[in-house]
Amino acid sequence: MYSAKMPEGFLWGGAVAAHQLEGAWDVGGKGVSVADVMTVGSATKPREITDGVLPGKNYPNHSAIDFYHHYKEDIKLLAGMGFKAFRTSIAWTRIFPNGDDEQPSEAGLKFYDDLFDEMHKYGIEPVITLSHFEMPFNLAKNYGGFTNRKTIDFFVRFAEVCFKRYKDKVKYWMTFNEIDNQSAFNNDFLMATNSGILFKDGMTDEEKEAAMYQAAHYEFVASALAVKIGHKINPDFKIGLMINYSPVRPLTPSSADALLADKFEQHRDFFSDVQVFGEYPKAIEAYIEKHCYRPDITDEDRVVLKEGTVDYVAFSYYQSTTVSSEKVDPDDLSDLAKAVAVNPTLERSDWGWEIDPVGLRLALNHLTDRYHLPLFIVENGLGAYDKVEDGKIHDPYRIDYLKKHISEMEKAVAIDGVDLMGYLPWGPIDLVSAGTGQMDKRYGFIYVNKNDAGVGDLSRTPKDSYFWYKKVIESNGTDL
Ligand code: BG6
Repeated sequence: MYSAKMPEGFLWGGAVAAHQLEGAWDVGGKGVSVADVMTVGSATKPREITDGVLPGKNYPNHSAIDFYHHYKEDIKLLAGMGFKAFRTSIAWTRIFPNGDDEQPSEAGLKFYDDLFDEMHKYGIEPVITLSHFEMPFNLAKNYGGFTNRKTIDFFVRFAEVCFKRYKDKVKYWMTFNEIDNQSAFNNDFLMATNSGILFKDGMTDEEKEAAMYQAAHYEFVASALAVKIGHKINPDFKIGLMINYSPVRPLTPSSADALLADKFEQHRDFFSDVQVFGEYPKAIEAYIEKHCYRPDITDEDRVVLKEGTVDYVAFSYYQSTTVSSEKVDPDDLSDLAKAVAVNPTLERSDWGWEIDPVGLRLALNHLTDRYHLPLFIVENGLGAYDKVEDGKIHDPYRIDYLKKHISEMEKAVAIDGVDLMGYLPWGPIDLVSAGTGQMDKRYGFIYVNKNDAGVGDLSRTPKDSYFWYKKVIESNGTDL
């Protein structure tokens, strides 16, 4: 297996999001977030988004793995693997419980002060996402989330409070997690988590698509304003965008499939284009104008976009995407999901996610060629069922997956010259799945005793992969 030493200061670690592990959903004055109104689902059953917190429903994020009360023990375990960095998010509703509050909550701010201090105690660098699927439910329900221009101000206020408070504790920031997920504009879960949009029954696909383009525009403006403010507060801040990147390839060598693959990328990659270049790419501008999908864009917005471009490109990588023009006309592409085909050369996880380590090398090369900025892998990993046998968890499948992906990453750095800041695989400690709300879809190096039904004593146990990853970090990537 190919391996290479990573550059000095490479940030090895892992990534999580507040709502998926903290629990304590109503402790310390925390408000209800969109994640708090999502029930548990499964590999085949989508999560239900309820109208507020309703009695008798199972909301797995409410207690999650109770990191809120266990963070000292958990950070110590992560430090035991030699983590250099740990990515988490700041739950917006701990700081502004309703989103439109005038003043932030001191209890919420204090929690993250303590958490970041604990990380620094072990030399672990915090990498912080401001908005990771956790918009205050009040903003979603009563303002329409990011379909409302006012939400820009609410987000910017939140960002500014965090930047000021943690300016000496956090250097690496990201504004919106996987902002490009909403290219799947007719997916209720993705629209609620990305933009706080709760679709009403009976809305047409066209109306949903229009809502997405307007909301995404306001998020671009909000992100750019945050970048500008952040750099003023601390010029040493590194503030990045964050996308769910998946290299796209045609199913066959036909020209129609090749064109579709390109069109697919245009419709999805514009989310990062705008944040890197400060302007919309031509094809998407033309598409939006033709359909009148983004009625509200001002000259001032265009200036802000130019002034608030990002310092680096962070991305999650789970799988590549294969498309087929048998399924959709490249010139009439709006519903990207319809274009996706099964890649017959790849294996799939138990949740149907295609496993493609070389896709990670492709991703690193594509993004470097396109953006010429440092990259940061802030998610990657395999969701799998684990079995506890005699108190031990043997997870060779996880080690195998990560080993192959790290090897491809190392080729991209050592052979292709990619400028990579670090590698933060998803869910180093088991947590609630965002997509399904399950606990049994596990990514962790550390097992947490709790199942989909919410049963378990929450005890933490290192898996075999824990000791393997420790070695990888210790050897700076040479001992895979
Ligand atoms: C990413 C998200 O899409 O994938 C995470 O940023 C999420 O929040 C991760 O948990 C894995 O997805 P899932 O559905 O397996 O939790």
